[in-house]
Amino acid sequence: MPQKKPLVVVTRKLPDAIETRMMELFDTRLNLDDKPMSKADLIEAVKTADVLVPTITDRIDAAILSQAGPNLKLIANFGTGVDHIDLASARQRSVTVTNTPGVLTEDTADMTMALILAVPRRLAEGERLLRSEKWNGWSPTHMLGHRIWGKRLGIIGMGRIGQAVARRAKAFGMSIHYHNRKRLHPELEAELEATYWESLDQMLARMDVVTVHCPHTPATFHLLSARRLALLQPHAYVINTSRGEIVDENALTRMLGRSELAGAGLDVFEHEPAVNPKLLGLDNVVLLPHLGSATIEGRMDMGEKVIINIKTFADGHNPPDRVLASMF
Ligand code: 8YV
Repeated sequence: MPQKKPLVVVTRKLPDAIETRMMELFDTRLNLDDKPMSKADLIEAVKTADVLVPTITDRIDAAILSQAGPNLKLIANFGTGVDHIDLASARQRSVTVTNTPGVLTEDTADMTMALILAVPRRLAEGERLLRSEKWNGWSPTHMLGHRIWGKRLGIIGMGRIGQAVARRAKAFGMSIHYHNRKRLHPELEAELEATYWESLDQMLARMDVVTVHCPHTPATFHLLSARRLALLQPHAYVINTSRGEIVDENALTRMLGRSELAGAGLDVFEHEPAVNPKLLGLDNVVLLPHLGSATIEGRMDMGEKVIINIKTFADGHNPPDRVLASMF
């Protein structure tokens, strides 16, 4: 007898080809309007589904999971970060969680490098000037930025994305420094020509650019606190393409406004989609709407991973991208 297809509820619109394949393989409920699900919608989804496919815009907390029906066995997250899912509650209820690691590494590193270039060289500010039709022509001292060649880059979190950023930044002539819970293998450290700092505080005090690449967990919430941000030199830049919660956004905004820091490139925010209004008024920042992995190729690869995770799980195997709380 053919096996019953799992009921898969997808919370947001995914690339067409991914949705088509999911419809072929599973009993799939799509969200074609792409309207973010309310709490009530999510509760309805976990009550009925065998598999939930959420994204970062869905808060799958203990309260939602406490409403889960007996069929819910898998949360196949569309995305790598799982800080919006209560992993402990999921484990208690024997719900497996998977994510999509690896396939958005290069895209996120590209976006990080774009911000490392854009902020010191005042790209967005220059573009705004041109569009405002206020440019009076070239001058030797107009809109001078800072060179990144020869500058020190401090990478916080040297996982896949941190390493991909290191490779790019090295090619742009930056010297690579990093802080990580674990030191890299000596061979890899040598290949990246990276200097390890056991003390984050000491590293921060010596960098020209600092970029955040650790996951958001209870241990990394406000890792860049007001106290740590104050350790940075006033000429330093802060880049964040990881999670807004890792940086104290109010403290960062205050310091940028007072020129206690040179600038920031932010793709993520503490209370997305809200952005501190004071940040919007600053010229020395480049702000992006969480575009780190936003390429067609990346989103297709993420969708493929979601499908593989669901399919292997439904076939009774261990899904390749199982997330364990002990990983964080
Ligand atoms: C995703 C991300 O687009 O994968 C992640 O962790 O931050 C983003 O690039 C988003 O999370 C999808 O849920």
